[in-house]
Amino acid sequence: MFIWAHRGASGIAPENTLQAFEQAIEAGADGIELDVQIVEDVPIVLHDAWLQKTTNGLGLVRSSTLEYVQSLDAGNGQAVPSLQQTLATIAGRCQVNIEIKAPNSAGLVAQDIQLALDNAWFKPEQLIVSSFDHKQLQQFASLMPNIRIGALTACLPTDNSRFAVELKAWSLHCNRDFIDIELVKDAQAQGLKVYVYTVNHVEDITLMQSLGVDGIFTDYPARAIQYFKANCQ
Ligand code: G3P
Ligand code: MG
Repeated sequence: MFIWAHRGASGIAPENTLQAFEQAIEAGADGIELDVQIVEDVPIVLHDAWLQKTTNGLGLVRSSTLEYVQSLDAGNGQAVPSLQQTLATIAGRCQVNIEIKAPNSAGLVAQDIQLALDNAWFKPEQLIVSSFDHKQLQQFASLMPNIRIGALTACLPTDNSRFAVELKAWSLHCNRDFIDIELVKDAQAQGLKVYVYTVNHVEDITLMQSLGVDGIFTDYPARAIQYFKANCQ
């Protein structure tokens, strides 16, 4: 089972911060999932389009200045990191799933990924770009065909994994509450990996195991790794 640290080790550290990413790596996570918003054309690592949920700031991210966003406290004195800074810091120590949250940002994200490849912070096969915005995934894939894409869905589609196949995705990223064995089997038969968010509790981990998924996104990577060590020898 592939363990993605969801927003880093966000169950024990402020989400989407360098501290959460370091703790995920320390826990031995296979990969880190993080969310990207845009401010002044700079990709930054933040889940919400608004600042107030996870920082001590106020307002819409896209209407803020970079200077303001970078002056904020995202928890435990942690700053909101830029994507570039984050990729330079993680630097290939685990895989990274970059989730595009903001509209019209595929090109800006592609630029940062190119920089990470040029600086040898990552190999292409260590990165996945995902989004609920499938139009942007298509656009991203045309810009960087060597980087894998992950098709996110929050629903259980009637035609199973067809949308992900049409997107030529590497993986299908689905919601723990809207998944069934038919979707998992169909996706895997098409060669897609199936990764499920957000799986924190043992009951959900065992359910995902019984569905045969390939990986989970969890806020508690250490707990999940411990569970698999103890139960899957
Ligand atoms: O990428 C998986 C998951 O993070 C998608 O939902 O809202 O947690 O970004 P959300
Ligand atoms: Mg996310």
